[in-house]
Amino acid sequence: MGPKDVLFLLPEGLAEWEILSAKTGLSRAELLQTLLQLKAEGFPVLVEERGAGLAPGSPAPQILFPLLRGKFGRAYRYFGFVTSTQDVLRAWQDAPIGAVVLAERQTRGRGRHGRAWESPPGNLYFSVLLGKDADPLLSLRAGLALLEAAKVGGLKWPNDLLAPDGRKLGGILVEAEGERIFLGIGINVHVPPLPTSAALAEFREVQRAQLLAHFLWALETWLREKKEDVLLAWKERNVTLGKKVVVRTGKEVFEGIALALGEEGELVIRTKTGVHRIYAGDVVLCATDDVKDPEVGEGEAEGGGSGHGQGKGPGPSAK
Ligand code: BTN
Repeated sequence: MGPKDVLFLLPEGLAEWEILSAKTGLSRAELLQTLLQLKAEGFPVLVEERGAGLAPGSPAPQILFPLLRGKFGRAYRYFGFVTSTQDVLRAWQDAPIGAVVLAERQTRGRGRHGRAWESPPGNLYFSVLLGKDADPLLSLRAGLALLEAAKVGGLKWPNDLLAPDGRKLGGILVEAEGERIFLGIGINVHVPPLPTSAALAEFREVQRAQLLAHFLWALETWLREKKEDVLLAWKERNVTLGKKVVVRTGKEVFEGIALALGEEGELVIRTKTGVHRIYAGDVVLCATDDVKDPEVGEGEAEGGGSGHGQGKGPGPSAK
């Protein structure tokens, strides 16, 4: 029996050594050696005098599978360390739609616009394979699923999950290769990786396996929703519209008021030079009381995240 076979037999929480030995056919000494190896490989293995097991809520398949409601996540690969779950999923050639790769840590996790995504243990880092039928609203759909699973915060265009105080709780990276789309999700569950980040556990009790299962089901559901319903839902749950924003598209920087969400999920902003439609970019939110230009008052904006428990106005947010 190899280390991964042992890993997949471990229960959530502690089990007595005798029980584990009976399950695996290994002596206590052999078990101990294997468990320490798994721990060194990044898996959340608990080893104590009275027994061993997996940290509660660990996203190991034996804990995740009973929580799944749909098809997504049924093809699943679980790792300790990887470079990036995006790369591991890309290399999984015969992965079916909805396949998920998850790692406890990433050594070269990446975010949008070429940024690094710090990946300390205790959070969720995973990638989901989608097919060519994903539409231009994919980013928004995925953001809605993230918010639904997290149950905390609001969405910064297009799909960053922000805590009520504006710190970042999670982000989504969409990459494509031919007809395969790799949706990468990072959620700060227990450990905020940067001073500008928050962890979901600061706001509510949360188990990682449950959160992952909830996200995957919500994603399946939001992928099926009608375009109009997606746009409407996003407008209701966003913390972007009506705010003064700085948007970087790679080539240009726009500074103005986020006025609306367009039909294709684009952000419509008004700057001093006119109205612009941004299809891809990085948004920094400025405090709403920064709006000084009476020509571009907040009253013009649609939606705006009201009624979603947003606390103090979010300041510029990185990760
Ligand atoms: C963002 O910049 O907000 C997007 C962050 C996406 C991070 C996730 S973690 C899992 C997957 N693997 C990666 O390397 N990146 C994504």
